[in-house]
Amino acid sequence: MSKVMIVTSGTSGIGKAIANKLLKESRCTEDKLIINYFEEDQKTQMLSELSQEDKKKVTFIYADMSTYEGMEDFVEQVIEISPKIDWLVCNTAIGTYKKFEEYDYEIWEKILRTNLSVPTFMIQKLKPRFNKGGKIILMGSLAGSLSYSSSLVYSVSKAGVHHLAKCLLKEFDGQNVSINAIAPSFVQTPWQNGRSQESYDRINKKINLHRFAEADEIAKLVYDTMTNDFINGTLLEITGGYDYF
Ligand SMILES: NC(=O)c1ccc[n+]([C@@H]2O[C@H](COP(=O)([O-])OP(=O)(O)OC[C@H]3O[C@@H](n4cnc5c(N)ncnc54)[C@H](OP(=O)(O)O)[C@@H]3O)[C@@H](O)[C@H]2O)c1
Repeated sequence: MSKVMIVTSGTSGIGKAIANKLLKESRCTEDKLIINYFEEDQKTQMLSELSQEDKKKVTFIYADMSTYEGMEDFVEQVIEISPKIDWLVCNTAIGTYKKFEEYDYEIWEKILRTNLSVPTFMIQKLKPRFNKGGKIILMGSLAGSLSYSSSLVYSVSKAGVHHLAKCLLKEFDGQNVSINAIAPSFVQTPWQNGRSQESYDRINKKINLHRFAEADEIAKLVYDTMTNDFINGTLLEITGGYDYF
């Protein structure tokens, strides 16, 4: 059976690794992968890396997922491509390294909107479109479970994402759609650009494996979760053993 799969922010870091994993595992020529992108350059780069076979399966859709209107427009385009969908990965997030004292209302509101509100309403709009056996993955973060010192608003948004996965179960009851959240600790992606060696060393001391995850390791967990029909309503942490010491 062919599948319609969607990944938001799928041209960089973890999202790109998930999109590539879905293509690698795709066995049906009729499969469709819809990849949301934000920066044109990232899309062009990813497109240039795809095989001819994969290009036939992929549709890139621009959307600013920090706005309700951007999400609405994206959903409309998805429905034009396919009125029914199977797998949805909500991967978009933004953060800030501002201190709490430096926050203004706008930055608080934008981060909660992008990380929590927009995905919530995207799922609301796509809810009637899921085929039986559908899967939703929400990209959380260990920061949503532990209180990292660095980013209060990001942590709060991810805690909301984790709880959203559990609360949505009730809303999807009877639809045979599984919903899970994945919570990585630290992953080597462009998100880490600018991190100092001192910061890497300090964090690596707290991780039992003494390194950041590769994006492919997160993508594998996402895929394994979506292909296991009995994982549902769960927060899956992938941390390398964080806070071991
Ligand atoms: N890296 C980590 O250590 C880590 C740990 C835990 C959780 N996570 C989560 O993993 C997810 C992906 O992060 P990443 O590490 O892969 O970071 P990344 O490589 O920086 O990717 C972030 C993605 O978000 C996209 N994006 C930013 N603003 C957007 C907007 N307004 N509309 C649509 N897309 C937008 C970016 O698009 P462009 O590149 O086109 O700008 C990029 O594709 C996030 O949910 C993050 O919270 C990451």
